[in-house]
Amino acid sequence: MIGYVSRIFFQTLAASKTLKRLASRYGMRSRGSFARRFIAGETIDEAIATARAIETSGLLHTLDLLGESVHTMAEADAATRAYLATMDRIVAAGIGRGLSLKLTQLGLGIDRATCTDNLRRILDKAGADDFFVRVDMENSPYTQVTLDVFGTVWQLGYRNVGIVLQSYLRRTRADAERMIALGASVRLVKGAYQEPKRIAYQHKSDVDAAFVELMQLLLADGHNHAIATHDPAMIEATRRFAASRGLRSTDFEFQMLYGVRRDLQAQLRDAGYRVRVYVPFGREWFPYFMRRLGERPANVGFVIRSLARERHA
Ligand code: FDA
Repeated sequence: MIGYVSRIFFQTLAASKTLKRLASRYGMRSRGSFARRFIAGETIDEAIATARAIETSGLLHTLDLLGESVHTMAEADAATRAYLATMDRIVAAGIGRGLSLKLTQLGLGIDRATCTDNLRRILDKAGADDFFVRVDMENSPYTQVTLDVFGTVWQLGYRNVGIVLQSYLRRTRADAERMIALGASVRLVKGAYQEPKRIAYQHKSDVDAAFVELMQLLLADGHNHAIATHDPAMIEATRRFAASRGLRSTDFEFQMLYGVRRDLQAQLRDAGYRVRVYVPFGREWFPYFMRRLGERPANVGFVIRSLARERHA
């Protein structure tokens, strides 16, 4: 319940222009600025440096050029071109080739056909340059249409692309079965948005129970699925299930967010699992950052301490 209330609270704050201005001014200013705990930086150079450090420590990564809910076709086109340029920079840097993106960043909220075309532009280049692209899942008004766009590109023959499903949505078991039937790779998450009771579980115990059930469904299937969580109970359940099925540590992967539970990331790596870190970067970091605060209100403490330091610096 606390999680539910804090999500509403932080989603409301995320709409505040004043707060966004303040955060943008202080959040990334110096090495110790608060937003840097969860965001690699505002530039691709900073993201590449972070990705290199992650690789050096024996972990994998997926880079997310932050942005969502663009309002014009021109913005959607600019975001698409920015992704294409990011891919060039990643190739030139010689680091691992994984990307995550949001369809509303490519214009899903404006025109579905254009969004699909933009995604295809990215997937064409991804295919040529050997990238894997993960389509993030956004809030519920976009669930079906995101799955539809994903289904369209899958039918068109793109295979270097995967999807995200959220265990808090009541519909997800049916979606997972459809993705398994397609043979698509799924990243399973709990879900980061505030959703109504009618369509989403509200209690952690229900979200967790669904997560375990879906994890088992996916891992029993294969197809290189990703179990994305920082919850030790979910991780333990995954490890136990994988062991009971005799799965190899390369048959699936764990994923975690940049800046969250690095201790767990290292433990899993040391135990021989593949661990991928989701590395967000870019100037549009404010909504992403607010979702991270909503998940764990204790994070507000470090923001306040960091802001106090910045303002007196
Ligand atoms: P839970 O919220 O129960 O947290 C378990 C423990 O993890 C906490 O007790 C704490 O120790 C730690 N923790 C969790 N969040 C933290 C935070 N912000 N700061 C510090 N510690 C924290 N969601 C979505 O809707 N669409 C998507 O596409 C994605 N994509 C995605 C990719 C990857 C790689 C990950 C790891 C997560 C996502 N998410 C997401 C977010 C996801 O839905 C969920 O909100 C967060 O992962 C938090 O849930 P946990 O499973 O970690 O459990």
